[in-house]
Amino acid sequence: MITVNENFLKLKASYLFSDIAKRVNRFQEENNDKQIIKLGIGDVTQPLPPTCINALHAAVDDLSKTDSFHGYGPEQGYAFLREAIAQNDYSSRGAQVNADEIFISDGSKCDTGNFQELFSQDITIAIPDPVYPVYVDTNVMAGRTGNNQDGRYEGLVYLDSTESNGFVPAPPKERVDLIYLCFPNNPTGATATREQLTEWVNYALEHKSLILFDAAYVSFIRDESLPRSIYEIEGARRCAVEFRSFSKNAGFTGTRCAFTVVPKEIEVYDSEGKGHSLHALWNRRHCTKFNGVSYPVQKAAEAVYSDSGKKEVRALTDYYLENARIIKDKMSSLGYSCTGGDNSPYIWIKSGMKSWDFFDDLLNRAAIVCTPGVGFGNCGEGYIRISAFNSRENVIEAMNRISAM
Ligand code: MLT
Repeated sequence: MITVNENFLKLKASYLFSDIAKRVNRFQEENNDKQIIKLGIGDVTQPLPPTCINALHAAVDDLSKTDSFHGYGPEQGYAFLREAIAQNDYSSRGAQVNADEIFISDGSKCDTGNFQELFSQDITIAIPDPVYPVYVDTNVMAGRTGNNQDGRYEGLVYLDSTESNGFVPAPPKERVDLIYLCFPNNPTGATATREQLTEWVNYALEHKSLILFDAAYVSFIRDESLPRSIYEIEGARRCAVEFRSFSKNAGFTGTRCAFTVVPKEIEVYDSEGKGHSLHALWNRRHCTKFNGVSYPVQKAAEAVYSDSGKKEVRALTDYYLENARIIKDKMSSLGYSCTGGDNSPYIWIKSGMKSWDFFDDLLNRAAIVCTPGVGFGNCGEGYIRISAFNSRENVIEAMNRISAM
């Protein structure tokens, strides 16, 4: 008899965004005359930058000739891309990351979800609330939690992110081993200052904890005083792993390319307290379970760092940020309190009613899809998230419909 991993039975029946998609599809079937505007999942709508498209075409041509053909690539990614990242995303900002500390992958969702495999079952884990559900669900699947009681899993340390702390939680009083942080934040759009990240890094160093820092939305930061990488903070190379993606800056949500930085200094400890290289362990896992991102996609990602690529990516993120400004201005003028949207493509809105009720209201009365805040955790109850990833026309139309409601 095949038996199930019972940890999976602790999970909610479906993943947040699948749940929303089902409701939206049902609504569309029942109202096929309505033009739904999707401001829910953070999926890009604008085409890939032309420089990336040119690089993709050229790389596909390479594959058509024997002397430039590429079969299996290095599991960790091609040197041309790893070096471009090290130079442009880190050295240029005074942060030290070496090319061989960068692992190219097919997405930050997979990397943030998979990374927990390296740790023992009995670690304590701090999870912000609200949070990107992948961090929680993958630890539930791995058996590191008890059951879900009233929206929270037993055994996790929840870090409330609320209006009162500006949606940036401080380190907890107790000791935790693993910490998930995401800035600019999904879902609240809040950003962390250098001082706030320094507090977290100091906490992690003091407790020999590890920070998993999700920086997927970093290209939306416009405030020059905000750090772009956790490695801009002293000591972070000893206690933090950083995840980044080409999804939201260059529009690779369907193309798939991301990377994870694992500095060689970081140690994790066995039951006798002996240190082991986290980089070596992740490398071992990556080579066993992953066969690399395709050559044309890595060439397209490399093109993001060319002069024209940089300009085009900046224009793309500016485009979505202008959408975010339009959404935030309109929702604020209607009396809603809003966070995010300035250095982030997400606007976190206090809905004044239960999240799913507001979601249903927007869908039924205006054919607009948002994401109910409570889907990201208990502290998200009473909020919705609106994503700026859509065309300008649709964003303006959505705001007109909301005004008319
Ligand atoms: C979101 O809407 O939260 C994101 O699109 C999720 C993701 O990037 O996987």
